[in-house]
Amino acid sequence: MTDLQKVDPEKYAAVADNFVYVHRALRRDLDRIIEGGEELFQSDFPRFARILEKHSELEDQLFFPALEERVPGVTRESEDQHQQVETLVADLATGKCSDTAKSLLQLRELLHSHLEEEEQKVMPAMMDHFEAAEIWALDGRIMEFCSAEFMQEMLPWWFQHIDVEDRICVAQNMTVGVPADFLPVLCQWIAAGLAESEWLELVEKVPELNPPIPS
Ligand SMILES: [Fe+2]
Ligand SMILES: [Fe+2]
Repeated sequence: MTDLQKVDPEKYAAVADNFVYVHRALRRDLDRIIEGGEELFQSDFPRFARILEKHSELEDQLFFPALEERVPGVTRESEDQHQQVETLVADLATGKCSDTAKSLLQLRELLHSHLEEEEQKVMPAMMDHFEAAEIWALDGRIMEFCSAEFMQEMLPWWFQHIDVEDRICVAQNMTVGVPADFLPVLCQWIAAGLAESEWLELVEKVPELNPPIPS
């Protein structure tokens, strides 16, 4: 595993949203759903499934093909895992699993080893084989794959399921990577997911977010 301390901080910032901060939110949300029992599964698993599916799609269609051109084979294992995860998620979402609780635990195990594979192999390879500006350029294409409806669901979900320090990092990356005229609407969606005090705390640390939220 690459020692992240020795990594170029700009490269790390460019890969971290997708390979660190989204992963943390996915782990945390799945834990919450597992702990929440049947009722929470019914209400919240569909959103988890939509967000995970889009995350995998972005990797399969945007990040992995770019990386494969420079390091053939490095994403093969991750891609296979996407298929396994997707199959199990679809079975859970359509009620095909006879024991939901047991299948959710199975999903957690599968997802954890998948995220680890990406964090230990794919993410370091991105940093080794791309310049920071090239990774930012890939990040800049994410919106091509996401509808406004998806972003409106994903952003509040994301900020709800990461710690304060992570929120600051993600928000800072947004002020770098997102066109200025698009930032206000992102802020509205993020603020919608946070308590007012949490939003104010975030704006204090990342003043570029500043646009007032209409009440
Ligand atoms: Fe991932
Ligand atoms: Fe993945």
